[in-house]
Amino acid sequence: MSDKIQFQQREQLKEKPDQSSLTFGKVFTDYMLSFEYSIDKGWHDLKIIPYGPIELSPAAQCIHYGQSVFEGLKAYKHDDEVVLFRPEENFKRINMSLSRLKMPEVDEALLLEGLKQLIDIERDWVPQGEGQSLYIRPYVFATQEGLGVHPSHEYRLLIILSPSGSYYGGDSLRPTKIYVEDEYVRAVRGGVGYAKVAGNYAASLLAQSNANSEGFDQVLWLDGVEQKYVEEVGSMNIFFVIDGKVVTPELNGSILPGITRKTVLELAKTLGYEVDERRVAIDELYQYHKEGRLQEVFGTGTAAVISPVGELQFKDEKIVINDNQTGPITQKLYDNYTGIQSGKLEDPHGWRVVVPKY
Ligand code: COI
Repeated sequence: MSDKIQFQQREQLKEKPDQSSLTFGKVFTDYMLSFEYSIDKGWHDLKIIPYGPIELSPAAQCIHYGQSVFEGLKAYKHDDEVVLFRPEENFKRINMSLSRLKMPEVDEALLLEGLKQLIDIERDWVPQGEGQSLYIRPYVFATQEGLGVHPSHEYRLLIILSPSGSYYGGDSLRPTKIYVEDEYVRAVRGGVGYAKVAGNYAASLLAQSNANSEGFDQVLWLDGVEQKYVEEVGSMNIFFVIDGKVVTPELNGSILPGITRKTVLELAKTLGYEVDERRVAIDELYQYHKEGRLQEVFGTGTAAVISPVGELQFKDEKIVINDNQTGPITQKLYDNYTGIQSGKLEDPHGWRVVVPKY
């Protein structure tokens, strides 16, 4: 068994929320994992501390210049066991994001061990209702005080935990309405689109909020060069079922390499579907729809899981997908994906990682 990480107990534990009313990311558990970096010591002082406000200089570099990256993964309860889903993929990706923002990489194995010890302490917070899980948010931000523009010499890593229900609220398979954004772009080649950096989400908010006020759930981003090729949705990668084949935009440097995206591609192949990662033009999709060949559309993401798309609107042309119903391939992928996560199905790929009782 690994060494126990330093643990600072809080005086009073919080009251746990009523599980029937859980939404996404609003309630946080008793403890968080904390890790610090300085140029002299490297990463040091890994510890589990009470969840609560942190001290930060008003001149901290993350606030001014945006050196801030994050991840999202989930823990599930199977009877008496708590399991994580492909956590090593998230720690691999956080290092890729850190390196893009010239931030120091972390020891992936050490972080995974720290997360397991944190979750072990918080296992009673993992909800067990249909579609519920403990959402895990690791993040790193620059804490050095100063206004010069250069990579910070100090950083903080935190992992906070939030018992959560469905991301869009209500039924996780409610078909969503998506606006195809034709004015703003999210990312360009050579930029930071492929990294999970906080600024990508800030850059998406104006378009997202315009779309929300017109009754859409999210926006679908087109490429930043020609505004012609489909990239991803606000908090999800996007998939299409065309002539029975599962198609998703290929990773091109401006699309986030989603872990759910990767899992769904692997799962679809296992289930016998043909899959295709390629450039997909929005005009081509509309043409397929006209010809009756665009059968299903769905998004994938840790928070959003597998989420059917019922409507797409591009400029003033709206198309309705599969009569605004969850399609059979979306449903099958959803059942298999959530079945493996929740322990109802076997895990032939070895994606589940059990949290030990320390
Ligand atoms: C996730 O799916 O974990 C994400 O990071 C999306 C998030 C911005 C809600």
